[in-house]
This record gives sequence, C-alpha cells and structure tokens, in this order.
Amino acid sequence: MSFEGKAALVAGAGGGMGLAIANDLITAGANVCLADIKPRPEEIREGPGTSFYRQGDLTDEAVVAETLAETVAAFGRLDYLVNTVGVLWFERDSSLLEIDLETWDQVLDINLRSHMLTARHAVPHLREAGGGAIVLFSSIQALRGDRLAQDAYGASKGALRSLSKSIAIQFAADNIRCNVILPGATLSPMQARWQGKEDEVARHIPLGRVGTPQDQANACLFLLSDKASFITGAELIVDGGITAEA
Ligand SMILES: NC(=O)c1ccc[n+]([C@@H]2O[C@H](COP(=O)([O-])OP(=O)(O)OC[C@H]3O[C@@H](n4cnc5c(N)ncnc54)[C@H](O)[C@@H]3O)[C@@H](O)[C@H]2O)c1
Repeated sequence: MSFEGKAALVAGAGGGMGLAIANDLITAGANVCLADIKPRPEEIREGPGTSFYRQGDLTDEAVVAETLAETVAAFGRLDYLVNTVGVLWFERDSSLLEIDLETWDQVLDINLRSHMLTARHAVPHLREAGGGAIVLFSSIQALRGDRLAQDAYGASKGALRSLSKSIAIQFAADNIRCNVILPGATLSPMQARWQGKEDEVARHIPLGRVGTPQDQANACLFLLSDKASFITGAELIVDGGITAEA
C-alpha cells in the first residue's frame, strides 16, 4: 500500500489508535497533520513522511478550519481524513434516566460534532485533490444496547454510522470514499482500566486477546489505501469476533 507524497489529517492523534494510524502513514511516506486536544506525544515517528502536531479542541469550528488550512498550506494538498476523536466517560455517561444534560451535550459534541466538522472542512480540499478517503471511528457499542448504559456514547457512535454512509453517498461522484470502523475492546489510553487485566477481558473475545491500536491502524490504512478503491459506505468491525458471537 503506497502513501508516498499523499497528505493526511489524523484527528485524535494524541494517543491510542490515532497516533498508531498517523505513525503508520508517516512510515508509508505520507505527510501528516496530527491533531488532538492533548499535548504533543513523544512517540511521533520521524519520516520518511513529514508531520506536524496541532493541539486544539476539534469541537470548535474555527480550530477545525484552521487545522485543515494549515495542513493544506504545509503539504499542498489533502488526500485523507481520519477521525478517532472520542470520549467514554464511565463516571458521568449513564442511562437517559439520570445522565445530566451537560454531559450528554459534551459527549455528542466531541464524539459526533468533531467528526462532522472535520469532514465539512476536509471535503473541499479532497475535491480539489481529485478525490480521497475518509475513515471515521465508531464502536461496536453502536450495534447493541447495554444494561450498564452509556447512552450518550452509544447514541454518538450510532450516529457516526449514518453520517459515514451519508458522506459516502453525497461525495461518491467526487471520488471521495468514506468508511467507518467499529472497534471492539482495544487497549489504549481510553481503556487504561484494563491495564494488567488483559487476560480477564480476553476471555470475552473469541480470538482470545484484547485488540491493540495497531490492529485498528491496520484496518484503517487498508480502507484509506487504493486496495479499498471500490469500498465506500462500509462498516468494518474490528473486534476479534465479539459481535459475531450470539
Ligand atoms: N479503546 C477501545 O476499546 C475502543 C472501542 C470502541 C471504540 N473506540 C473508539 O475509537 C476511537 C479511538 O479511541 P482510543 O482507544 O484510541 O482512545 P484515546 O482516548 O486514546 O483516543 C481518543 C483521542 O481523542 C482526543 N480528544 C478527545 N476530545 C477531543 C477534542 N475535543 N478535540 C480533539 N481531540 C479530542 C483525546 O485526547 C484522545 O487522544 C474513539 O472514538 C473511541 O470511542 C475505542
């Protein structure tokens, strides 16, 4: 899969899956803007592609517009948008019966609005480049309910499935593809609570291990690449078989 000379924005690249994706793109020769609300992580790879880090709140439309403008100014084009931005607030996100509305709004802003905004500001640049690819990150929680409800998270992830299909259809004629990944249990900063308990979590996963950010990056780079040139509006479940089991 060649990404030589291509340019990407990876939103949510301050850690976890986003950082793994950005690093793989850099290694494959792409020029990458890594954007996140967190400070710059140390583990950003050096070349062969170039990169820069942009710290900011991607629920803010002005920040998103500036980030995309800086990316295109730095690299001269935009070919790919990946958005892994998301929060899972165990202690605050709960059932619709008790969740406070401020939490509901914040989770929807971060998990959904940021994806809409980055796509809104990326599409004109992707069009200018003659096409490109977008990958959004939902969750297997978009496929099911949960007795231990996290309703804001689940609703935001469900909405990303339809947003991805809508982007795919609206911009197919511009040669812009859009797909969504539904990760299952993946050891990342979001799931730091599983550190040291991997075996316990792995018992619920048919393939017998917890996922890694690299597993998600592998799927993402495939969907971005020309190997996936006939795939758009699709959902790729990357969960070690959890959702396949009745
Ligand atoms: N880890 C899992 O088990 C799992 C499972 C299913 C889905 N997911 C989803 O995959 C995606 C990536 O998750 P991860 O595991 O890499 O978690 P992560 O916490 O490492 O990554 C999410 C990133 O989003 C960033 N972010 C949060 N709010 C932001 C904002 N307002 N502006 C800019 N950046 C912001 C965070 O700083 C963080 O770096 C998320 O959308 C998550 O919901 C994760």
